Amino acid sequence: MIQKIKGFKDILPEDIGIWQKVESVAKSIFENFGFSEIRLPVIERSELFKKSIGENTDIVEKEMYTFADRKGELITLRPEATASVVRSYIQNKMYAKEPERKLYTIGPMFRRERPQKGRYRQFYQINAEVFGIKSPLIDAQILLMLTTLFEKLEVLDTVTHLNSLGCPKCRPDFRKALIDFFKPVLSELCKDCIRRINTNPLRVLDCKCPSCKKAVENAPIITDYLCDECETHFFSVVDTLKSQNIPFELDTKLVRGLDYYTRTTFEIQTSLPGAQSAVAGGGRYDELVKMLGGPDQPAIGFAIGFDRLVEIIAAGQKQQEPSIDIFIAALGEKSNKMAYKWICELNLSGIKAEMDFSDKSLKSQMRKAGKLNAMYVAIMGENELNNGSVVLRNMKTKNQELVLIDNFIKSVKDKKTA
Ligand code: HAM
Repeated sequence: MIQKIKGFKDILPEDIGIWQKVESVAKSIFENFGFSEIRLPVIERSELFKKSIGENTDIVEKEMYTFADRKGELITLRPEATASVVRSYIQNKMYAKEPERKLYTIGPMFRRERPQKGRYRQFYQINAEVFGIKSPLIDAQILLMLTTLFEKLEVLDTVTHLNSLGCPKCRPDFRKALIDFFKPVLSELCKDCIRRINTNPLRVLDCKCPSCKKAVENAPIITDYLCDECETHFFSVVDTLKSQNIPFELDTKLVRGLDYYTRTTFEIQTSLPGAQSAVAGGGRYDELVKMLGGPDQPAIGFAIGFDRLVEIIAAGQKQQEPSIDIFIAALGEKSNKMAYKWICELNLSGIKAEMDFSDKSLKSQMRKAGKLNAMYVAIMGENELNNGSVVLRNMKTKNQELVLIDNFIKSVKDKKTA
């Protein structure tokens, strides 16, 4: 049998409910905040990602699925969506009509990472990106939108980490300070960090290696190096978040793994056991539109790891919700006909009703009702037909009641709306 590729996964019908719920809650919140959906290709020219994410990042160095197509052009399965959204903003001259744009997109991304729970080679992201707004108020507003979504989904075991990465004016000084700090202790760093020290020294700050973690303890702090504009912007974001009671923690070691960030950066992390810690991440990328050939327009956005969010929600759902409203266990031809009429009528009125179509015993029909996780089961045989009433059993409480056949549909509908 041909198996799926390692790190890729099927999302099965029994799991799709949470995906659909998250998607619809996200869409409704994002649209309330003025965002419109955009759908983009999953393949782009490799150059787009190299230029935007950065040549010396893990994603570009080790994780991209890059192929030469039949004409030899290098193309890449997108490892993230921001670069594509920017490409589309520029290519479709969205800025010409109205530079301020709020866009969201949901879809698969591809990174050839080492697969494990919460880390896949094809994973899904929910992205939101804002173009053309410089004000720090928008930084606070997208964090409000993100935390509102998590609250609505009852994902509460999270902490928002916040930092500023400065701008091309002030970051070089910090970079130099970092290199000067690490040079004398280079041998204490891991192999990757030694290699990165001249290309991407900021990444040393969030390396997970215990020896690097120790080495960075007294490293210079970026917020001490911010220029006046970056500092004013950052503290304005902090003040707005505080005034709106949006919880966050300052985390001066948060550097993110993509090169395009400027100023505000953030990550939503969870401490739930067994979960990958970062559930969402984002920040400003005020230079990227210009760098990719567009106008000088600021931008900010985030991406939620959809798979990770779904896993957290699924783990939190201790008790499975009933998946159908009612199962009608019918015995005998007449009862079956009646059950068929009822389930159709109930289905048409928005009630999830099921029956068995193959004349099984009562025992195996009850087993099927259990598998379908029915909220109610109605049992109907010859006796019930003759008496004009059916037994309706609440599968959670195990309470039973007799319902008149003529009143059956109405009773089920009343229970659904109760
Ligand atoms: P990122 O931090 O690389 O940022 O990814 C965002 C989120 O995607 C992560 O926090 C994580 O939840 C999820 N994620 C990343 N890799 C995997 C994986 N292999 N398996 C499962 N989930 C994963 C970005 O991609 C930026 N484009 C975010 C952004 C948007 N910044 C500004 N706008």
